[in-house]
Amino acid sequence: MRAQSRRVATQPQANAPAKNSAADTMFPSKKTAANAPADKAAAAASADASAASASGAASVLACRGLVRFLGRDENRTHVLRGVDFDAAAGQTHAVVGPSGCGKSSLLYLLGLLDRPDEGEVFIAGKPMARASDDARTAARNAHLGFVFQFHFLLPEFTAAENVILPMRKRGELGEGAMNKRALALLEAVGLGEKAGRLATHLSGGEQQRVAIARSLANEPPVILADEPTGNLDAKNSAIVFDLLARLAREHGIAVVMVTHNPELANRCDRVLRMLDGQFLKS
Ligand SMILES: Nc1ncnc2c1ncn2[C@@H]1O[C@H](COP(=O)(O)OP(=O)(O)O)[C@@H](O)[C@H]1O
Ligand SMILES: [Mg+2]
Repeated sequence: MRAQSRRVATQPQANAPAKNSAADTMFPSKKTAANAPADKAAAAASADASAASASGAASVLACRGLVRFLGRDENRTHVLRGVDFDAAAGQTHAVVGPSGCGKSSLLYLLGLLDRPDEGEVFIAGKPMARASDDARTAARNAHLGFVFQFHFLLPEFTAAENVILPMRKRGELGEGAMNKRALALLEAVGLGEKAGRLATHLSGGEQQRVAIARSLANEPPVILADEPTGNLDAKNSAIVFDLLARLAREHGIAVVMVTHNPELANRCDRVLRMLDGQFLKS
C-alpha cells in the first residue's frame, strides 16, 4: 500500500533533533497538507477537486447518502437516513445529538466496523462500503484510529504492550522499533513514566490516555472517538480533549468525536448536530 511505504521508507528517526524526538518519533513521516510536495499526483488531484468533493473522494474520510437499518421485524429501526459528511484534516469535529439518534451507528460505518444498507464511505478517496473484508481491515489499520468510551485495554498487558498491539497487527515494524514508538506515544500523552505499568494499575483518565496512544500506533490520518470523555471526571475530560485537539492541530489529524459534553463540543472546529438519523442543516 502507498501509505505503508510512505510511512516506513522516509526520514530515518536518527535525523530527528533531540529536543523534538518524542513528537518526531510519534509521527516520523507525517506530511500535512501545508508541506506536502506539489507533485504531479497532487496537481491532478487538485484539478479534480471540485468533482471529487461532490463525490466525497477529496477528503481523508467522507460519506455520502448513508442509510442503515438495524434490528429485525418489529424491532427494525431506520437508524441512519441519508448522512453526508466530509472530515477535514487538522480539524476537530463534534457529533452531538440525543441518545439513540444514530451517532455510534454512524461512527461504526465511518470506521468500517459495519456496512451501510445504502450509500458510500470514502477513506482517502477510495470507496470502501462494498470492498472486501480484507481491504476494509487494511484500510482500517492504515487510516483509522479508534477511541471508545470504555478504553478496552487488555488488563494483563502493560501500557506499552497495549500500544504495540495495533503495530503488531499491521506487521511492519520490528520489536525494537515498536517499543521505541510505543514509548514515544506514551510520552506524548504524558505517560512515559508509566509505560511498564499494567493497564489495571492506571487510573481511568490514564487508561483513556493509553487508549489514545494506542489509537495513534499506526499514524492514522483520522481518529474516530465515541464519547471518549464519557466515563471521565471534568479534569480528565479536559486532559483527554486537549490531547485530541492538539493531535488535530499539530499533526493534521482529522478527529471525529461523539460527545454529550456541550462545552467540549463548542471547542471543536465544527459541530455536527444529529437528530433521528440525520444531520441538521447548520
Ligand atoms: N443491533 C441493533 N438492533 C436494533 N436497533 C439498534 C441496534 N443497535 C442500535 N439500534 C438502535 O439504533 C438507534 C441508534 O443507536 P446508536 O447509534 O447507538 O445511537 P446513539 O449513539 O446516538 O445513542 C437507536 O434507536 C438504537 O436503539
Ligand atoms: Mg452512542
